This record gives sequence, structure tokens and C-alpha cells, in this order.
Amino acid sequence: MSQKENIIIFDTTLRDGEQSPGASMNIEEKLRIAHQLERLNVDVMEAGFPIASDGDFEAVKKIAQTIKGAQIAGLSRSNNMDIDRAWEALKYAGDRGRIHTFIATSDIHMKYKLKMSKQEVLDTAVAAVTRAAGYTPNVEFSAEDAVRTQLPFLAQVIEAVIEAGATTVNIPDTVGYTIPSEYYDIIRYLKGNVSNIEKAVISVHCHNDLGLAVANSLAAVQAGARQLECTINGIGERAGNSSLEEAVMTLRTRHDIMPFTTNIVTEQITPSSKLLSTITGIPVQPNKAVVGVNAFAHEAGIHQHGVLMDKSTYEIMTPESVGLNQNKLVLGKHSGRHAFVDRLKQLGYDLSKEEIQKAFVRFKTLADLKKEIFDEDLDAIVADEVLRVPETYRLEQMNVSSGSFAAPTATVAMEVNGKIKRTAVMGDGPVDATFKAIKKLTKSKATLLNFSVGAITGGTDAQGECSVRLQSTEGREVLGQGAHSDIIVASAKAYINALNKMIVAEKRSHTSI
Ligand code: KIV
Ligand code: ZN
Repeated sequence: MSQKENIIIFDTTLRDGEQSPGASMNIEEKLRIAHQLERLNVDVMEAGFPIASDGDFEAVKKIAQTIKGAQIAGLSRSNNMDIDRAWEALKYAGDRGRIHTFIATSDIHMKYKLKMSKQEVLDTAVAAVTRAAGYTPNVEFSAEDAVRTQLPFLAQVIEAVIEAGATTVNIPDTVGYTIPSEYYDIIRYLKGNVSNIEKAVISVHCHNDLGLAVANSLAAVQAGARQLECTINGIGERAGNSSLEEAVMTLRTRHDIMPFTTNIVTEQITPSSKLLSTITGIPVQPNKAVVGVNAFAHEAGIHQHGVLMDKSTYEIMTPESVGLNQNKLVLGKHSGRHAFVDRLKQLGYDLSKEEIQKAFVRFKTLADLKKEIFDEDLDAIVADEVLRVPETYRLEQMNVSSGSFAAPTATVAMEVNGKIKRTAVMGDGPVDATFKAIKKLTKSKATLLNFSVGAITGGTDAQGECSVRLQSTEGREVLGQGAHSDIIVASAKAYINALNKMIVAEKRSHTSI
């Protein structure tokens, strides 16, 4: 293949990515990710599944109203109610709005899930695409579980939906079952057996159950697919989706044998990865390709020596090309408001006056405690002060005594529904005592599933960042986060943040796919 071709990058972090256990985001958080995806320059962003809940609908609508440039997709099952609801949210994006409708085509799904015959599935798919095409010419159809579908039937469905108006046809590996050579053959089969295939863009959507999502996606690109569906950090249902950063950087790094381009601003990859991880609380594994903290760390002496002589010895891409500026010192206690606002803008935060004021006060307090402030500290301040759900509960003051002789005791004052309440409680350790005090004041029955502590930057004066995962009595899970230079205060903030998120989550009722 000699000709350069562009691959459409369809990001589904806000839809399939949000289906990761524990990754659910509120509207403000989704909007912040959407702005980052805009900076990353994705071609299409799937903003959500509008029929799933009022929260999802509002998020898709807000993103369709706000984001310029990228196409905005909304998911719908193949029925009128879903499609109408999707367009109600997407119409604000005008001709950039894309209805993405799907139905399963594999024998297993048709028999056990849909309880429909082949003919019924075919008719339903065509009717769905026809209805969607009545709203917009920008219609994507997905044959769910395509990889386990009988190929002649898959070809028949794809041909019929293109005839009905689908301009993108997606061939998902819904359960992450295929391998590169098989997936390559499926795409080639469709190219050879669907008479009108040239009228639509072939898209691929791979799950990572066997760790092959990116490899499968790239094999499909080599076979003729021209849209690649993926998520930041590879998050998504079960083992996740194809990772955007791995797929894009492979295309960029191995351009010699895969002569395809993308519109991605690769320098925005690391900021995107970090923002998503901060918002969802899902950490990136240290050895994760492209965005793990060790991705550019050379430990062995022989490697370090080689890199010092010439980077190309052990580096196939540069850290700068993915936007990695390690612990860049940016501000200190003498930095003024102007420098602070300027740096926030460079980091991609577009904050209101009130939000800037809140963050600036917090910055000054931190700068008194910690002489060097890094970009990561600013990310944590914004996450902690600005990315907050409405606060039914708020930490007013706290004091904890502990040590090798004392029984750990936490004295906590909190605002609970507008009233200040106080209590003192003993526990097995300072964090346990603090959490017990918060539980007592809020009368919460939620169970603590997980508690983790991390340092945002190096050094003993680093801010601590805590995550708390709670489960309600109905089984709903939320993740709370808090940052502070005192690790116990950060823990209390994370616990209270989780309780506030639980209240918001209880107001959202989800229907699942
Ligand atoms: O994995 C899948 O099949 C999906 C479809 C809805 C596109 O996410
Ligand atoms: Zn999927």
C-alpha cells in the first residue's frame, strides 16, 4: 500500500468507557473529558447512551451544545424510542450529530438475548437505520457480536443497512474473542461480499478480553477498515476497549509499514490519560504502554547508557511526542494570580471566576506548606475544589490524635444538610476513627469497599491523594476522591466526596444495554 490514508478516530470513553466498573461520571466530569477530547482532536466522540438515564441524556445534550469540531455520537438500540431520544439530545450538534444504532447478529445473541429470528433482526436493523436516517445523514450501524456472526448473514445485514442509509458500519468484537488474522479475514470478506460496501466507512470496535484489542483493530485497518473505535487508557466494559493511545502511537511509530495518518494531537495523550484517571479514580498500571509511569523509564544500566549515547537505542518514540513533561516545576509561593490562571489555561482548564477564586485560595494554602508546585498539584487542586458534586455533606474541621500509646481518636465537625454537627470517635487507626466519625454524623449505611492512598508528586511534603470506594445497601458503587497535604484530611475528604456522589447517583436510574 503506497497511498497515505486517514483513519477516523472514534472515541467512546464517555460511553463504552463509562461502562467500566466504577467509572461512572457526572455531567460536569463528562464535559471536562469532552473538552480534553476536543484538544486531543478526536474525529468522533461518543458522548453517551441518551435513553439510558436522564443524566446520560443531559450529558449528551450538553456535549452536543458545547463541543465544536468533533462529531458527536449517541448510542441507541434498534427501536424508535431509543432513536428518537438519541436525536433529541444530538440535534444540537446539527450535521455533526451521529445516531449510532445497534442490534446483535450472532446466533448466540439472537437466540438467548433477543429471542428473534434472523429475518426479524434484519428487519429491525433496517427499520432502525431508516428511522435514524430520517433525522440525519450521519448514521452508524453496529452489528453487535459481529465476530461470532455467520458471515453470509453479517454481509446480508450490512448490505441492507447501507441500502437503508447507514454511512458507517461497525463490526464489533463485543466479547474480545477474535485474533488478528481472523478479524482481518472478516473485514476482507465483507469488502468482497457486500456489494455496496464502498458507500460506507467500515469501523472496528474491539474489546480486550484476551489482550488483543489493539492488535485486532490494526489488523482490521490493514484489511480496509477506516474508523477505529477506542477509549483513553483502554477503559471499557470488562477488560476494556482498544486503547486510543496505543493504536494511534502504533500508527505513528510504524508508519513505515502502516502508511495511515490520524488527526490526533499526540502531545495531548498524557494530559488526556491523567485527566481521565483523576476523574474516574481508575489508576493506570505502571507498565501500561504509552501512558504508564514506567513507559519511558529506563532502569537497567545498559539501557540507561544506551539512551544517554543515543535515544533511539531504546526509545521508539519520544516522551515529548505523547506530551510527557515529567514533574515540571511551574509555580511557587511567590507566584501571582496571573501566573496561576495562565498555567491553568495551559493545562486546558477553562474555569469560571468563582472556580478560579476557589482554586487560587487553595493554591496559596498549599504553596505555604510546599515550596514547589507541579502541574500534578494543580490537577489535584482543580479536581478537589472544582470537580465536585453538590455538597450535601461538607467537612468543616477535624482533628485526629494517634500514636503508639494513644487510642486513635477523630474529632470531626461537618455540615450535614446545612447544619453543623460534631462528634468524637475512637477507631483502630486514625483513618478508621475518621471514617467512623463521618459515618456517625451522616448516618450512612454504605460499605467501604476500597481505600487507597497515593502521593501526587515525590517528596515528604507531597500532597496525598486518597480514593474511597463505597457501596450502598442497594449495591450501587461510587468512588470519592480527596487531596490534601495531610493524608488523614485527604481521606476524610475522599469519604465525604463518595457520600455526596452516592446521593447524586441515587437520583440517576440506569437502564442497561
Ligand atoms: O461492544 C459492542 O458491541 C458495543 C456496541 C454497542 C457497539 O459496544
Ligand atoms: Zn463495546
